Amino acid sequence: MDAQIRCINRSLVAGAVAITLAAGQSQAQATGAGLRVESPNRRNSVLVEIREGNLRYSVQRDGRPIVLPSRMGFEFGGAKLLRDTLRIVSSTRKSVDETWTQPWGEVARVRDNHNELRVSVAEAGAPGRKFDVVFRAFNDGVAFRYDFPEQAGLREFQISEELTEFTMADDSRAWWIPSNRSRLDRSEMLYASSPLSVMDSVQTPITMETRDGRTFIVLHEANLVDYARMNIKGPWMDNRTLRVALAPHADGVKVRGRTPFVTPWRTIQLADRAADLVPSVLGLNLNPPSVLTDVSWIKPMKYIGIWWGMHINTMTWNSGPKHGATTANTKRYIDFAAANGIGGVLVEGWNVGWDGDWIKNGNVFSFTQAYPDYNLKELTAYAKQKGVKLIAHNETSGGTVNYERQMEGAFSLYNSLGIDAIKSGYVADTTPEGHSHHSQFMVRHYRKVIETAAKHKIMMDVHEPIHDTGERRTYPNMMSREGARGQEYNAWSGEGGNPPEHETILFFTRLLAGPMDFTPGVFDILIERGTGRPRRPEESRIRTTLAKQLALYVVIYSPLQMAADLPENYVGKPAFQFIRDVALDWEESRVLEGKIGDYVVVARKERNAENWFIGAITDEEGRTFDVPLSFLTKGRSYVAEVYADGPNAHWLTNPLPVAISSRAVTAGSRLRVVLAPGGGQAIRIRPAR
Ligand code: NOJ
Repeated sequence: MDAQIRCINRSLVAGAVAITLAAGQSQAQATGAGLRVESPNRRNSVLVEIREGNLRYSVQRDGRPIVLPSRMGFEFGGAKLLRDTLRIVSSTRKSVDETWTQPWGEVARVRDNHNELRVSVAEAGAPGRKFDVVFRAFNDGVAFRYDFPEQAGLREFQISEELTEFTMADDSRAWWIPSNRSRLDRSEMLYASSPLSVMDSVQTPITMETRDGRTFIVLHEANLVDYARMNIKGPWMDNRTLRVALAPHADGVKVRGRTPFVTPWRTIQLADRAADLVPSVLGLNLNPPSVLTDVSWIKPMKYIGIWWGMHINTMTWNSGPKHGATTANTKRYIDFAAANGIGGVLVEGWNVGWDGDWIKNGNVFSFTQAYPDYNLKELTAYAKQKGVKLIAHNETSGGTVNYERQMEGAFSLYNSLGIDAIKSGYVADTTPEGHSHHSQFMVRHYRKVIETAAKHKIMMDVHEPIHDTGERRTYPNMMSREGARGQEYNAWSGEGGNPPEHETILFFTRLLAGPMDFTPGVFDILIERGTGRPRRPEESRIRTTLAKQLALYVVIYSPLQMAADLPENYVGKPAFQFIRDVALDWEESRVLEGKIGDYVVVARKERNAENWFIGAITDEEGRTFDVPLSFLTKGRSYVAEVYADGPNAHWLTNPLPVAISSRAVTAGSRLRVVLAPGGGQAIRIRPAR
């Protein structure tokens, strides 16, 4: 239903690499037909032209307009607009076709096949500022970035606005979350759906469906390194023109820089069906290859944690009688992980700084000093002996200066103790200095954390992050992030929880940017073990069936995947076997069925293994799918282990029954996948022994 109102080991570079360069077409057309670049399959094209002194680009698919001629340019502090007196000086072209392999991912191999057009532009009068716009046309979308060469008329600069526009060809339906409400630091709202003409200012990725249903369009950005995050301002004047809105520094400046300088890519992903948007690799192809030569220490992992207990109020982060992060409690978690083949144990509240109002007191956190009832050295040794890794938790509460001061020392301590993963957090509305969470200041901070972590061989799982723009290609230790409304919202009173349709929207919006640490797998659907806080009965629960919690492991991609519930809630539950078995790293991913806000059926093949997994989820409506298994290897016998909604299951009235069965299947079989209202189904298909 509707949303309520969305290396390296640059391992094996395989496949053909073909690069062709065309000589500069000096004095390219300044008016008239303009310059065009087409995708390799010729379906997507970008036309670049000068109209009334403005540089404009437009996007077509199969000859139909998607983005109408839209202006480009900048407003620099203390200077006239760089937009209205432009001329095209020259252009060059290039084509690329290469295939590269990810160390881990939603797909193993990624093809980068595009045609590039670089257009050099200069302003007509003094100071004669100039820049290039680089356009790339791929079969799955188009992208462009600005590239400023070093020049006398533009050295040190401050950008007060980027003037890029997206004039959409029709009043498409959009799935979006706002960017201009309270809690600016968060991307944790429920998705709304509306015609774009009445859309608010929004965060990216924003997904749109044209009115004729023929094209799905996703606006986002790639390779955000030293710039402010891009949000999108709602329509302007003509009800169709969306504009870039950059998150500000504390003093209101958007970006500070010095030429030479490149901006992030603005990306427009295009597909005929929502199902074809996934897996999304456009942003990965627009990031540089991995800079890490040894990635052997980077490993996808399942984890449990001293975490859910804090959210349902059976434990506390702070010291005291309910302190969760004690040596004894952590050993209990380590034992459970070891007994169940789970690689990691996250411990929140282990470090000094949680007493008092920790959301306001970011500057008092220590990232090395443990509370007296938590013996870090003893626990890392105990974990090692059991073949389990501790995951360090670093809540900063936005205190980035405090964090950066301690980072080197803390990361080197973790590395010496065998801790190779950190979950970080930034729960604050701005930094103590007043910078927006998505400002250039914070973009630089998040990048510094990834780089420092890589130096100390540490994988990152960032909560309240800057959004994912494909940096995991360059730094494959950037594993997962939150950056959307996760499971935790189901635990809190007053927040309303996540409605049954929520994950069916996330799949086609937020998840197009990259992996999400959603933290699925809560079995105590009614949170019966939760205590303490007054809860309204309709809120004190998870709004899915238990089988849907299992399906989320396949649907919501993350290389770090949590079994979020208290370990005691898994004991004696046969359905837990699926969490033990489910893979984390995928050779390929295929969306078999998908409608935004309604349902998703996805099949993924485990990397370096012959197992397939299927995850199917629905919103509040029950649904049945007939799934052909033609993706299996022909001539081979398999066993399908099915975890389905049990008889009369319903997210509201009867969420717990799970029917577990197995049957022999081949590539010629079809599975009847029946989902209860708010339900799901998880299937493991393994070769028959
Ligand atoms: C918000 C994070 O999303 C959550 O997972 C964490 O437990 C709290 N912050 C405390 O850091």
